[in-house]
Amino acid sequence: MTTTGLAALLLVALLPKAPAQTLRAAGDKHQLLMGTAAGYGSLNDTNYTTTLAREYSQLQPENDLKWGSVHPQQSTFNFTNGDGLQAFAAAHSMKMRGHTLVWYQGNPSWLTSGGFTPAQLSTILQTHISTVAGHYQGKIYAWDVVNEAIADAGGGVRSSIWYDSPGIGFAGQGTKYIEQAFRWARAADANALLFYNDYGIEVVNPKSTAVYNMVKDFKNRGVPIDGVGFQAHLPLSSLDLASFDTNLQRFTALGIQVQITEMDVKVPVDANGNATAADLTTEANVYRSVLNVCLKYPQFTAFQTWGFTDAHSWIPGSYPGYGAALPFDKNYQPKPCYWQIRDLLQNQAEVLPIAASSGQAARTVTDVSYSGGEGIVFDSVAVGNYLTFTVNLPEVRPYDVRLGVKKFVGRGICQLAVAAAGTTNYTNHGSPIDLFSAAASFEEIDVNTFTPGTAGDKLFRFTVTGKNAQSSDYSLAIDYIRLIPQ
Ligand code: G3I
Repeated sequence: MTTTGLAALLLVALLPKAPAQTLRAAGDKHQLLMGTAAGYGSLNDTNYTTTLAREYSQLQPENDLKWGSVHPQQSTFNFTNGDGLQAFAAAHSMKMRGHTLVWYQGNPSWLTSGGFTPAQLSTILQTHISTVAGHYQGKIYAWDVVNEAIADAGGGVRSSIWYDSPGIGFAGQGTKYIEQAFRWARAADANALLFYNDYGIEVVNPKSTAVYNMVKDFKNRGVPIDGVGFQAHLPLSSLDLASFDTNLQRFTALGIQVQITEMDVKVPVDANGNATAADLTTEANVYRSVLNVCLKYPQFTAFQTWGFTDAHSWIPGSYPGYGAALPFDKNYQPKPCYWQIRDLLQNQAEVLPIAASSGQAARTVTDVSYSGGEGIVFDSVAVGNYLTFTVNLPEVRPYDVRLGVKKFVGRGICQLAVAAAGTTNYTNHGSPIDLFSAAASFEEIDVNTFTPGTAGDKLFRFTVTGKNAQSSDYSLAIDYIRLIPQ
């Protein structure tokens, strides 16, 4: 072997072993699909395709399966772009989601200007649904059957060519035309999951209540519906998270799946499309806090953004002065929101590998007051007991380390120490943390900034150093480790 070859081999041997670092691998730990909208026209850009295949486990055509694209003339269906995206998804083991069979927008002029009667429109819509959903039978696992059919104000049914202008025969009959579309979709593909998809329904409000009442009615009467897509096109001011939580609670109680289908966060940008660092941090917190609420629900099955790179996003065109809405920047570099989404999924205590423990074994608890609905409890019985997680630090850079814990009357005090994987050279990090509290409260504790000397796997050890004078026990309850790249 040449010296160069030997050096290369040594270098490979010295590199940290490939950790689960992509969004899709982090999502897999929670049986969660990590999705993005994508465009067939972008598949000729290798930056685009490399990032898409590496990071995402679900793909949804942003525009290529809309009526104008797939059904350009009354008697012509064009599956070229949709099939191209489907082949890409299949080649990279990604699930494909379909968007959308019934919408008030995106319709071709032969349809909107055709002067069709309700009876003719009914036949046209049924043919479209059976042809398109039929074509992708077994290839598209879930469809946005009906998109944005509820009006923004008041929660009535939105006026559209399908409802009342002139409609398919159910004008004035509320959600009856939507029900018909779901029945046709089920007939076209008995196995695809059928979703209703809309924006502005994330929190409890008249619009989301109208959707809730419709889904409840459909479930009661056996109309085939499997889920609701919450688009989540959001501003930096975030959401009322408590109301979002209450809303997900009532929707999941209906026995359906819930998915985030089109998330992006519009951020003010300068003339070059650049946002301030402070706004990118706020954006990261919006993404993290939304996903954090969703993770509590086992019925939450996919987290999808409306594109993944700021190089291709509908925001700058539709909201001049805004942009930077997605997890990757224009050069396909991960942004703070990418790190926070990934960190939230990857560093939940219940999915972190436990490298060692002494005294007692750690146990997973299921409790919705933990993010992700789970946490790790370490029933330590004595000073000196420790619990060690393996945590991956992808880059040599300063991280603000935060710790999600649950405090309680029977909790101990612990000291965090960090060592490189495979060593025992632990260095204390931050001050001892007292987990005693009269209330069973949850808290995120800022432990300190940490700069690793090398990237890769690190051992994060929590050693019991004592207990509060009022505490009855020494146990630790850990929800997550949060790493914020500085
Ligand atoms: O492809 C043509 C191009 O050939 C032409 O030169 C150009 C001129 O305007 O138009 C291009 O098509 C545009 C297409 O995006 C692709 O960029 C359409 O005009 C434009 O209307 C279309 O906008 C899409 C919009 O839906 C309307 O269909 C956006 O990309 C897409 O992000 C947006 O997505 C919607 C979801 O479907 C539903 N929820 C809201 C979301 C955002 O509006």
